[in-house]
Amino acid sequence: KITNKEKREGSPSPPGLILLFYLVFYLFLAGMFVLTMYIMLLTLDDYKPTWQDRLATPGMMIRPKGDQLEITFSVSETESWDGLIQNLNTFLSPYNDSYQVQTNDNCPPDQYFIQEDSAEVNLPSLSLSLFLKPRSCQFNRTMLEECSGISDRFYGYSSGQPCILIKLNRVIGMLPGKDGQSPYVTCGAKREDSDSMGQLAYYPPNGTFNLMYYPYYGKKAQVNYTQPLVAVKFLNASMNTDINVECKINSNTLIEGTERDKFAGRVSFKLRINSK
Ligand SMILES: *[C@@H]1O[C@H](CO)[C@@H](O)[C@H](O)[C@H]1NC(C)=O
Ligand SMILES: *[C@@H]1O[C@H](CO)[C@@H](O)[C@H](O)[C@H]1NC(C)=O
Ligand SMILES: *[C@@H]1O[C@H](CO)[C@@H](O)[C@H](O)[C@H]1NC(C)=O
Ligand SMILES: *[C@@H]1O[C@H](CO)[C@@H](O)[C@H](O)[C@H]1NC(C)=O
Ligand SMILES: *[C@@H]1O[C@H](CO)[C@@H](O)[C@H](O)[C@H]1NC(C)=O
Repeated sequence: KITNKEKREGSPSPPGLILLFYLVFYLFLAGMFVLTMYIMLLTLDDYKPTWQDRLATPGMMIRPKGDQLEITFSVSETESWDGLIQNLNTFLSPYNDSYQVQTNDNCPPDQYFIQEDSAEVNLPSLSLSLFLKPRSCQFNRTMLEECSGISDRFYGYSSGQPCILIKLNRVIGMLPGKDGQSPYVTCGAKREDSDSMGQLAYYPPNGTFNLMYYPYYGKKAQVNYTQPLVAVKFLNASMNTDINVECKINSNTLIEGTERDKFAGRVSFKLRINSK
């Protein structure tokens, strides 16, 4: 008499066949997955993102930056702006002229610093890129003049004329201007705050992000890249009032932020200077 057990051990019964089928099937799927991942990774370039929106207008950010985009302080209370000063000092440390001279080049202004050859000959597998990395241009801290923290180490906060630094987010390969026209920043007050904002001063002059800082070749390729900055100094802002400020980039190649992407090419923040 043949028992059930013996039957199973002999020729595989249907449940055994199904198990075997699934085993082979899943092994095959796993193999496909690994192979696909492997090929994908082979096509990725360490130096450039594989896919990127072509006409992306980058966002902007301010310094000093807290949790919210809100800068509130009292002129007479040192401790209310001390943190802001520390934040700016730390942020600007790599912009020191001495450091810039060591790491970066003094580039011809108002034109792109194009180094396609160095970017293309990057062959990570041969470590050749080590010798061919694109150079970067100097952005000296002193170019921020009154907002450099050197001539006035309190960046105007102690006198109620605060400086705010603005940067444009990095986008690899972006060309932010044509015909030698550098993009520039303008700030304005929202709605009813326009009287309270007062006059502004921009550094470098005209609030430009010079073309020489573009195109950007990426963090890994352009190791010493120093992001250009624009400083805005509020010369006569009203005290004890909320001022809603919006700064935006003006460029003849970047498209304005649309309703869909309100943060493209602009940043809004609240400024409040208390008199005591
Ligand atoms: C940059 O300069 C400031 C003031 O001049 C100094 O306190 C700071 O240590 C310097 N940072 C570096 C990295 O040299
Ligand atoms: C930066 O500062 C150094 C030293 O003061 C100077 O030699 C260099 O020309 C400056 N670079 C730019 C781009 O202004
Ligand atoms: C980056 O800066 C270092 C000095 O800190 C310098 O030796 C090096 O040549 C620079 N590299 C590039 C690609 O600019
Ligand atoms: C600033 O803009 C004015 C007017 O557009 C121009 O005449 C001047 O040369 C610019 N200054 C700098 C330093 O770019
Ligand atoms: C500063 O702003 C006040 C109004 O808030 C105005 O009366 C005054 O004329 C302004 N001063 C300058 C130098 O613009």
